[in-house]
Amino acid sequence: MEASEKAACCDGGDGSRPWARLWQALVNNQTLDQWLGHGLLLVKEDMLGSSSSGRAVPVVWQILYLLAGVVTAWLCWKFYYSPVVWKRDLTDIGYNHVLDNEGIRRGRAGDKRRAHTINRLRRLRKVGQRIPPPFPNGWFGILESEQLATGQARAVDCLGQNFVVFRASDSGQVSVLDAYCPHLGANLGVGGIVRGDCIECPFHHWSFSGRDGQCVNIPYSKSGTVPKVAKVKKWTSMEANGFIFVWHHVDEGVEPWPMMVVPEVEDGRWVYYGKNEFLVNAHIQDIPENGADVAHLSAVHGPNCLSGSDIRYSRPAWAEFGMHAWHASWHAPSEENDDPPHIARMDLKHSFRFFNKLEVCTVDVKAYQIGPGYVQLAMQTGLGPMVALQTVTPVEPLVQKVIHRFYAPRTIGNAFFQKFAVWAESVMFERDMMIWNHKQFVDTPLLIKEDRLIKAYRKWYSQFYSENSTSYSVAKESLDW
Ligand code: FES
Ligand SMILES: [Fe+2]
Repeated sequence: MEASEKAACCDGGDGSRPWARLWQALVNNQTLDQWLGHGLLLVKEDMLGSSSSGRAVPVVWQILYLLAGVVTAWLCWKFYYSPVVWKRDLTDIGYNHVLDNEGIRRGRAGDKRRAHTINRLRRLRKVGQRIPPPFPNGWFGILESEQLATGQARAVDCLGQNFVVFRASDSGQVSVLDAYCPHLGANLGVGGIVRGDCIECPFHHWSFSGRDGQCVNIPYSKSGTVPKVAKVKKWTSMEANGFIFVWHHVDEGVEPWPMMVVPEVEDGRWVYYGKNEFLVNAHIQDIPENGADVAHLSAVHGPNCLSGSDIRYSRPAWAEFGMHAWHASWHAPSEENDDPPHIARMDLKHSFRFFNKLEVCTVDVKAYQIGPGYVQLAMQTGLGPMVALQTVTPVEPLVQKVIHRFYAPRTIGNAFFQKFAVWAESVMFERDMMIWNHKQFVDTPLLIKEDRLIKAYRKWYSQFYSENSTSYSVAKESLDW
């Protein structure tokens, strides 16, 4: 073989070295299969016997190279395809200032004291006066789609309700019913079995239709008839954007607003990269209020994310080399523009500033607050578009389950960046949590002119309560038994 032919063979014919092509593929943000293709070519050309030196590589080394290649490919595959999950429960965030002082650590001995101390702190908290109803009206995410397999049923407790949520074993359609069987009160979500689009009670095997909640079969009834009143409440529900939503409205007959779907998520063009999940000790209204509270952005989220989520330590001098800069505005829907009244918008621009000069990591965010408990954050980053979907669902009057799910196109760049995004957003959210977990609800806050958006936000949010909404004190009493 001529020298030039040999070089072309080792270069893969396009004049560049395999390692260079591998690097170029990474820089150009190609997909994993393209990148692995370059990698395999590299193993084949550079390592398995046709090295540029012309000398054959010993068989042992060839096997080791192959093994290393397979392991690397598997790790890449895992890194590329496995979503990252960041989960914190009620006791994880916001109580360390007391736990540290009392020397309580996690572990067998510490866990009991830990729970006891946190419960004491929760009891001592003065939660505020004139707290709004804890369960507003609107669509609420009650499960993530992948948490409910075909033919599976689950008990879900939130919004002051006990639901059974199940996915029909034939059509895959999701139904949400009241959990308690009208026969003798068993919970259909605990041991109930899905048969077609019905759920069968675990106690005496009565079956209830997912379509309307009507009992359709009592297996031991000799007459074969089923009383008309044997029925459980059917809740309006829908599945979109990776969540199962339920329509919760205390006034019967109010038409649900159409859910805003993200087409790229629905049709699979963008993929799920991961999520975080938190339980927050606060009133639901406090959480989306963050979007209108533009002054807190630099105070809480300005300090470098590398300094972590504990706001006691999030402003160290060493981290001042880089700070986050935020420019935000919040907009109530405009009647003139015919905006849907249940959707508010926040425009946000983030950048990371080195020494208050060099700006990197610019992200443009358009956040749509859709009703009381759902937010879509459409972002434009240096690596392209992405979306974070947030659900806020009250599980108790002052306990909210908050989930953010991240979606973006499938690329190598996003495989790295989205993991970073989940981590960075979690750090920032936990800073808010440290405030929320201890703050009061202030009905008439002391606002200055610059805080006017908070007032506008509260006016907008009040549309999600109605006269019949369960009051905070009634909801709280119903939990004390
Ligand atoms: S309690 Fe459900 S069938 Fe008896
Ligand atoms: Fe915040």
